[in-house]
Amino acid sequence: MATPCVLWCLVLVDLILLSSGAELVQTSPSYTPLCPGDRLVLTCTTTTGSTFWRIPGQSNEAEPVSGPKVVEGLMLNVTSINGSTITTTGIYQSINVSLNGSEVACAGASIIAVYATVTITIADPPVAVTDININPIDDSSILITWLYQQNIIQCIVNYTVMINDSNVSSQYSSIGNNITLTSLIVGTNYSFIIIPIDTIGREGPPSSLIQYIWNVPAPVVNISWYQVSSDSVTIWWNNTE
Ligand SMILES: *[C@@H]1O[C@H](CO)[C@@H](O)[C@H](O)[C@H]1NC(C)=O
Ligand SMILES: *[C@@H]1O[C@H](CO)[C@@H](O)[C@H](O)[C@H]1NC(C)=O
Ligand SMILES: *[C@@H]1O[C@H](CO)[C@@H](O)[C@H](O)[C@H]1NC(C)=O
Ligand SMILES: *[C@@H]1O[C@H](CO)[C@@H](O)[C@H](O)[C@H]1NC(C)=O
Ligand SMILES: *[C@@H]1O[C@H](CO)[C@@H](O)[C@H](O)[C@H]1NC(C)=O
Ligand SMILES: *[C@@H]1O[C@H](CO)[C@@H](O)[C@H](O)[C@H]1NC(C)=O
Ligand SMILES: *[C@@H]1O[C@H](CO)[C@@H](O)[C@H](O)[C@H]1NC(C)=O
Ligand SMILES: *[C@@H]1O[C@H](CO)[C@@H](O)[C@H](O)[C@H]1NC(C)=O
Ligand SMILES: *[C@@H]1O[C@H](CO)[C@@H](O)[C@H](O)[C@H]1NC(C)=O
Ligand SMILES: *[C@@H]1O[C@H](CO)[C@@H](O)[C@H](O)[C@H]1NC(C)=O
Repeated sequence: MATPCVLWCLVLVDLILLSSGAELVQTSPSYTPLCPGDRLVLTCTTTTGSTFWRIPGQSNEAEPVSGPKVVEGLMLNVTSINGSTITTTGIYQSINVSLNGSEVACAGASIIAVYATVTITIADPPVAVTDININPIDDSSILITWLYQQNIIQCIVNYTVMINDSNVSSQYSSIGNNITLTSLIVGTNYSFIIIPIDTIGREGPPSSLIQYIWNVPAPVVNISWYQVSSDSVTIWWNNTE
């Protein structure tokens, strides 16, 4: 005889939970994981006429939001109100690695509420570049190209290319995934490595060491590759012509 009441109570609680629910989405950037330093914009929509946010590091249980305020570095604001539908945004101007794994949540009520949650994930340091290619241009310059295939490409701001000849070590920076080296001296042994750098200056592992002997006639006829070991390649050009 008590069964209908139990069912009814469950339905009632479900209705309250549904009506106090919320939607929380990452509006910007368009990718995850995030790069350190990214501006993160989260947008919460509730239909109860009120909005509560849970913010990493905050001491109280849930933060009611009805106007602009900053809580633990998260800039909260109401962007639109349409009847009982309220849209709020939470913005981290510059996300940092210490927030990795933290949860941001929002709901339409402070108690008996279903919180919509976004977990912040931040990209690991860069991985190594792959598919390094050497393309001779003329008798004193080459184009080196490579690929960055894994991880989050948006997090790479530039690449450091380190070049040694028998006398000196030089360092260049390239924003794209290629570099043109000029003023090469015939008969010199060169070696280089390529290191990706991310938004907060974290370095990826160096590419395999590429060694080559610049011994090229014009025009370039034959390029030979010699695999010295798994991470070392010697390249030379046939200069018999
Ligand atoms: C990381 O960001 C949060 C929120 O903006 C801030 O409270 C914290 O101090 C920052 N941590 C570091 C190490 O910058
Ligand atoms: C809060 O949002 C309103 C409406 O979009 C805007 O006019 C106001 O400048 C914002 N305040 C802050 C501090 O961002
Ligand atoms: C407000 O909500 C109503 C009903 O959902 C919708 O028809 C209307 O276009 C909304 N107004 C604005 C300005 O978004
Ligand atoms: C962020 O957290 C994820 C999941 O725990 C982890 O795989 C990743 O390595 C962390 N990133 C950083 C930068 O610590
Ligand atoms: C290295 O130094 C020697 C002696 O100064 C010079 O003759 C040679 O051209 C230099 N090699 C390169 C690649 O600069
Ligand atoms: C080198 O990289 C730049 C920047 O990404 C790009 O515009 C250019 O087309 C690339 N050149 C070659 C030859 O790959
Ligand atoms: C360049 O490397 C080759 C092969 O390792 C070596 O035989 C040669 O002596 C080197 N030349 C110079 C100038 O270091
Ligand atoms: C260049 O020479 C320095 C000093 O000998 C060495 O530490 C570095 O690994 C070399 N880099 C390359 C790309 O060969
Ligand atoms: C490459 O990125 C590093 C780290 O952001 C920066 O210090 C350096 O100036 C950049 N180099 C170029 C040529 O943009
Ligand atoms: C290029 O090298 C191959 C193999 O060593 C050889 O058969 C061919 O004749 C060479 N071509 C030229 C133009 O030297």
